[in-house]
Amino acid sequence: MTAVGIDAVELWSGNLKLDLPETFAPVKGDDPEKYTKGLGLTSSSLPDTYEDIVTMGANAAYRLLDRKNIDLEDIGRIDVATESAFDNSKPVSTYVAGCLEDVFEGDLHHADKGERKFACLAGTQALNDAYNWIAADRHRGRSALVIATDTALYARGDAGEATQGAGAVAMLISEEPNLVELSAEYGIGSADETDFLKPNQQFPSVDGKRSVQVYLARMREALEDYKKAAGDIHPDDFIYGPFHTPYPGMVRKAAVLAYRNTIRGTDIEEEITDEIGPQPHPDNFDDNDEYQEAIRAYTDALSETEQYQNWYDDQISPTLRISRQVGNWYTGSVHIARTSALLNAVDRGIDPVGETMLVGSYGSGAQAEIHSERIREGWKDEISQLNIEEQLDDRYDLTFEEYELVHDAHNHDVDAEVDPFTAPSGEFVFDGWGRMGERKYRFVE
Ligand code: HMG
Repeated sequence: MTAVGIDAVELWSGNLKLDLPETFAPVKGDDPEKYTKGLGLTSSSLPDTYEDIVTMGANAAYRLLDRKNIDLEDIGRIDVATESAFDNSKPVSTYVAGCLEDVFEGDLHHADKGERKFACLAGTQALNDAYNWIAADRHRGRSALVIATDTALYARGDAGEATQGAGAVAMLISEEPNLVELSAEYGIGSADETDFLKPNQQFPSVDGKRSVQVYLARMREALEDYKKAAGDIHPDDFIYGPFHTPYPGMVRKAAVLAYRNTIRGTDIEEEITDEIGPQPHPDNFDDNDEYQEAIRAYTDALSETEQYQNWYDDQISPTLRISRQVGNWYTGSVHIARTSALLNAVDRGIDPVGETMLVGSYGSGAQAEIHSERIREGWKDEISQLNIEEQLDDRYDLTFEEYELVHDAHNHDVDAEVDPFTAPSGEFVFDGWGRMGERKYRFVE
């Protein structure tokens, strides 16, 4: 089979920024280091009053199609992954297609459109759907457009408020892709969980502490399942490990567990055993509490080893670069982690063609998915054309009072007339309501 994967990617950040240590922490009475060191975040991206999931998704897609000179007739499928949808019937992809038809020649009447839902995992599921569509040879040589777009807002005062974010990722999925080839092998860890959900409500009901444990448990299952498909893996098999990043501190917790798992039976484990002793095994303990205590102590010691710290600095830390500045983009989060890794490769001046990344996606509710991606020849040309750093630098820096207004402006239960903080330019904007309650959009030159 020919290679199938991501040909190109584009990111669109919400145009506003909330500085967490400087603006949010003082009002909350928190130590700024809770954000910078504990959660690993410096700021959140938030949507201006004229932005929503459609504008951000359409803007990312517009940049992608425009710079790659792609005709609408070459797109055979558009899937939008989101957990911020505002309509139970009409998919967001139809709105995005309408926006694109306004600015490009031709139309998207031939394109199969849909919406994917499984919390933050849906972006990767849409990627897999596109992969399957091409692998099944139903695509007639065309590409799929996958858009992950979310306004990840929490209720005011919820602990999750510190991890908010807003942005979109557009990805073009094609045969013989420029950026990365997706592996056919993938692993799943899935269970009926109620740690984070939105039962017909805008802001999530969250059991934050439990959600962290569920993330770790499902990722572990997915890793075991991936190994059943792909065989044993070694940490050195991969150049980067982009993971779903609700906040970088979550990935820090997951990384050491992934390392502990993947060094088992390898030369690295042997080397480390000489320093910190062997990994505890449940068979050697009569009491589960004692085993849990021993595994915690081993994991803490492991995280202090030079081998682990070098691995973390090389393979994991680079994936957190954009996340640190934007917060959680829900469905887009793992896809900005991959992009961060590739931006790091550009900065380091390395040539990672043919190298593999281990990609871990996750959605509350809950399901994790792990697959691998091989970096392709055209990666650098694609990644060098992104302007995400510029977008982040250009965000309007909100005061706390302005943040409160923005939150109200996006709260479906609050009737707030708030003036925009930025002037849109070369982008789609929300333009009011139509006669059937539909949202309307227009492109601002
Ligand atoms: P919290 O109670 O505000 O924070 O909740 P905390 O007190 O647990 O502190 C956070 C960390 O900062 C801790 O680190 C503290 O020790 C540390 P940890 O012990 O966990 O390693 N800290 C400090 N470090 C240095 N200096 C200091 C300092 N003070 C504290 N001075 C929580 C945090 C994540 C629970 C909250 O933000 C939350 O509920 N977030 C939303 C849920 C979430 O993001 N869960 C993540 C896993 S679930 C997931 O990823 C799915 C999701 O994306 C949704 C989807 O799939 O759709 C959310």
